[in-house]
Amino acid sequence: MKTKTFAEKIALAQDFLPIHGTDFIEFYVGNAKQAAHYYKTAFGFQSEAYAGPETGVKDRVSYVLKQHKIRIILTTALHSDHEIAEHVKKHGDGVKILALWVDDAIKAYEETINRGAQCFQKPKIQTDEYGVVITSGIYTYGETVHLFVERKNYKGIFMPGYVKWASDYNPSATGLQYVDHCVGNVGWNRMDETVRWYQEVMGFVNILSFDDKQINTEYSALMSKVMSNGNGFVKFPINEPAEGKKKSQIEEYLEFYEGEGVQHAALATNDIIATVNALKQRGVEFLSAPPEAYYTMLPDRVGEIEEEINTIQALGILVDRDEEGYLLQIFTKPVEDRPTLFFEIIQRKGAQSFGAGNFKALFEAIEREQEKRGNL
Ligand code: FE2
Repeated sequence: MKTKTFAEKIALAQDFLPIHGTDFIEFYVGNAKQAAHYYKTAFGFQSEAYAGPETGVKDRVSYVLKQHKIRIILTTALHSDHEIAEHVKKHGDGVKILALWVDDAIKAYEETINRGAQCFQKPKIQTDEYGVVITSGIYTYGETVHLFVERKNYKGIFMPGYVKWASDYNPSATGLQYVDHCVGNVGWNRMDETVRWYQEVMGFVNILSFDDKQINTEYSALMSKVMSNGNGFVKFPINEPAEGKKKSQIEEYLEFYEGEGVQHAALATNDIIATVNALKQRGVEFLSAPPEAYYTMLPDRVGEIEEEINTIQALGILVDRDEEGYLLQIFTKPVEDRPTLFFEIIQRKGAQSFGAGNFKALFEAIEREQEKRGNL
């Protein structure tokens, strides 16, 4: 029997929400002002909006940054006695909210709560002179949250409570376009439960699975299943550690994040060579390039590609192919001192998969770093 394409699998999703895409990713951090400077300088995000004491928000400060369709928020608490401060104390800087853009945030809340979701925030209606934004939120794995954002009747810069953030410091963008996927790490034996949660509560479908036999280097092992919503705009791969000779990289994450959470966000570009060149010049650190042999074997493994192999080798970019085309990808080192969250930069040239053919090269590079930290 012919295996189904991703499009055919996605068509099986029960799209009762439905979701138009990722609205924003919110990070809880120890110092939002400095984190914002890093994401502007290093990644080329643009100043967009601000909320804090000057705008009537007394307990926290939030900076909204934007690059094409990608919106991130960096939020810090102003006092220790605050759930955001507690979150940072436990997890370090990390992703708290994966916000989803919906038409009806009240219906999205009711539908998911009726299907068993746990409440993070009841529907909240916020208005200002630019219109109305309705948000509601549910917990997913660990302390991570999906916030539903309804902004069809809003014309302001971001949402009520925020003002435009005009800055004199505006480094140029680096070509990042949209959030391609966000990966969650869950604990031992928790992957199937999490997959079922996405199926039952969110109406998502499982479009791809890897087991520990496919993703297994000499040391590290993991299992992964990719969940997609009904139009394929939102994809959440879920990783679980697996037994290997030494400690799984997923276990290292769980230990340092002190729980389940977002492992990486993949940001898409239309020109990975230009984007990675720019990011490197601005100080973004990437995992070490795979060995020479990876590039010698590349033409046999992926066939013809438009990019010069010498160029992608010099940058350490990985390539993979599926039935629909190929993709180029590269992974940063963790962007905090704890070995937790990192970013992927991806360019799709037809391929709709996630680079399974690169997992071995990628994991070996991660293990070299893990070994330096003494956590292998
Ligand atoms: Fe990824």
